[in-house]
Amino acid sequence: MMCRSFNIARLLAVLLWAQNFGDTLAADPVRAEHGMVVSSHALASEVGVQVMREGGNAVDAAVATGLALAVVHPSAGNIGGGGFMVVFTKSGEVTTFDFREKAPEAANKNMYLDSNGNYIKDSNHEGYRSVGVPGTIAGFDLALKRFGTRSWTNLTAPAIKLAEEGFALSAPLAERFSKLKADWKKYPASGKVFLHADGSEYAAREIWKQPDLAQTLKRIQAKGRAGFYLGETAFAIAGDMKRHGGLITALDLGHYRAVERQPIHGSYRGYDIYSMPPPSSGGIALIEMLNILERDDLKTLGHNSPAYVHLLSETMRRAFADRAKYLGDTDFGTELGLEKLNTKEHAAALRKTIDPKHASPSDPVKFGDVYESPETTHYSVIDAEGNAVVVTYTLEYSYGSRIVAAGLGFLYNNEMGDFNPNPGHTDATGMIGTEPNQIAPGKRMLSSMTPTIVAREGYPVLLIGSPGGRTIINTVFQTTLNVLDFQMDIAQAIAAPRFHHQWLPNQIQFERNAFSSETEKTLHEMGHELHAGPAIGEAMGIFINPQTRARLGAADPRSPDGKAVGY
Ligand code: DON
Repeated sequence: MMCRSFNIARLLAVLLWAQNFGDTLAADPVRAEHGMVVSSHALASEVGVQVMREGGNAVDAAVATGLALAVVHPSAGNIGGGGFMVVFTKSGEVTTFDFREKAPEAANKNMYLDSNGNYIKDSNHEGYRSVGVPGTIAGFDLALKRFGTRSWTNLTAPAIKLAEEGFALSAPLAERFSKLKADWKKYPASGKVFLHADGSEYAAREIWKQPDLAQTLKRIQAKGRAGFYLGETAFAIAGDMKRHGGLITALDLGHYRAVERQPIHGSYRGYDIYSMPPPSSGGIALIEMLNILERDDLKTLGHNSPAYVHLLSETMRRAFADRAKYLGDTDFGTELGLEKLNTKEHAAALRKTIDPKHASPSDPVKFGDVYESPETTHYSVIDAEGNAVVVTYTLEYSYGSRIVAAGLGFLYNNEMGDFNPNPGHTDATGMIGTEPNQIAPGKRMLSSMTPTIVAREGYPVLLIGSPGGRTIINTVFQTTLNVLDFQMDIAQAIAAPRFHHQWLPNQIQFERNAFSSETEKTLHEMGHELHAGPAIGEAMGIFINPQTRARLGAADPRSPDGKAVGY
C-alpha cells in the first residue's frame, strides 16, 4: 500500500510537472567534451561538427553549418538573406558581424505608397520589390577573414554535396513544401525547385536535389564572396530583378559590405551578456529587460506564476516601447538612446513604474502590431578550444519572398518588410511609421534577432538564440532567466513554455497550456488581456558547465528537424 501511494504521488508530481511545462517535455541535454553544434537540422549540425573534428574552429564550423542549412532548411537557412553573428574567442575577445540586408539604392521611403500616398497592403512583403540586398555570404566572408582557418573551397563542399546528391525530406518539410504549392506555381523558378518537373509535390522520405543551388555554391567555392556579389551570380540576380520590376542592381550587390561591430554588453547578477547591436534591436532590448529585473528574486515568485508573468510582461512592455521609439540603423544617424537604454539607472526608473498588482496601459499613441512571421533560424557552435559562435539569420517570412532566383536555385528574402513602410503613419491597424526605421537607400532594416552569449569570469556559459520575429527577444530573455535564475538545465530551459508581450497590441500572447486556468484568471484580474497562440520560437542553445567545461546542448522540441550534435 505504502509503495502504491508513493507511486501515485510520484505520478501526480510528474503530471503536475508536465502540466507546468505544457506540451513540450524536455529530453536530456546532449553532452560533449569537445565541440558541439545545435541547429535546426541534424544534417547541418553534423556538417559543422565534422569541420571541427577535422581541425577547423567554431567560426569555420559556423560558416559550413550556415551553408548546409541553406540547402537542408530552406525556410530560413539561406544565401539570399542576411543575419548576425556573435563570436567569443578562447582568448576572451568578443565581436559581432552584421550581415543584415540593406535597401537597394533605388529604394525610397515612399516606395510602398500609391499615388495618393496610401500604403499598398502587403506590398513591402510581396514580390521582387520586397527583396533586400542579401548579406549572408559577405558576413561569412568577413568572419572567415577575421577568424577562419579553412578555405571557401573546404567549407562549401558539404553543402554542395547535399545540394547535388540530395537528402531525404522529413515529413514536416515535405508537408510544408506541399502547403506552399500555390506560391511555387506563381513563380516558375520556385516551381522548378520545390515541385517535380510535372508539377507534382514531393513526399516524405523522397530525395530532394537542388542542382542550380549546387552550381551557385560552386561559384562561391571557387571565388568566395566574389562568387556571389560579382560576375555570373550577380548579373543573374540583377537581370532577374530587372525583368520582374525588382530594384536590386549589380552595383547594389557589388557595393554590399558586412560590418564588424562592437557587441552590446550588459551585466546581470555577475554574468556578462553579449549580444547584437543595431541594426538589431535584440541586444539592447534584452539587456534593458535583464537590468529591470536584476534586483527581483524571481525564483521566489515561482516560474510562470501570476506574479512572475505579470512582472516579466510589464518589463517586456517597457522595453518594446523603447524599441519602437528609438531603434533603427545607427549608420543612418538615427537618434538613438543607446547609452541611456542600457543603463542601470534607466532600468531602475522603469522598474519603479511597475505596479505589482495591476497591468499598466500601453501608450495611448495608437501603435500596433506589424506582422512578423515565425521563420528565421538560429544555431550555436562551440569548438574544443572554447571558441563560441552564435548565428541568427533569416529570409524574413518562412521561405522569404517565396521567389527562387532564376537559374540560381536559392530563395530571395522579403526583408524590406522589416522597415516601417508608411512614413509618419502610426495607427491601431498595425502600422508603425516612426522615423528611425523608415526606408533610405543603402539602409538596413531594424531586426529583432538576438544571438547572445552569456559569460562568467571570461568564459562563455550560455549560447542562445531563436527565430520568431519580435518574440525572439522574449524567447532569449526567458530562456536566459530559466538558466541563470531557475537553474534549469539547457533542455528544460528551452522546452519551458513561453509568453510574449510587445507593448502593442496590449496583450500577453502565450503558448497553449503554458498557464493554469488559475494563473489566467489572476492575470485577467490584474488587467491583462491574454491571447493563447501557437508555439513561440525555436531556440537552439548550449550550456557550458563552468566547472567541468562539458558542453550540454539542446535543440528546441518545437523544431521538427533540429538537433544538438557533439563529439
Ligand atoms: O529580423 C527580424 O527580426 C525578422 N526579419 C525576423 C523574422 C523572423 O524571425 C521570422 N521568424 N521567425
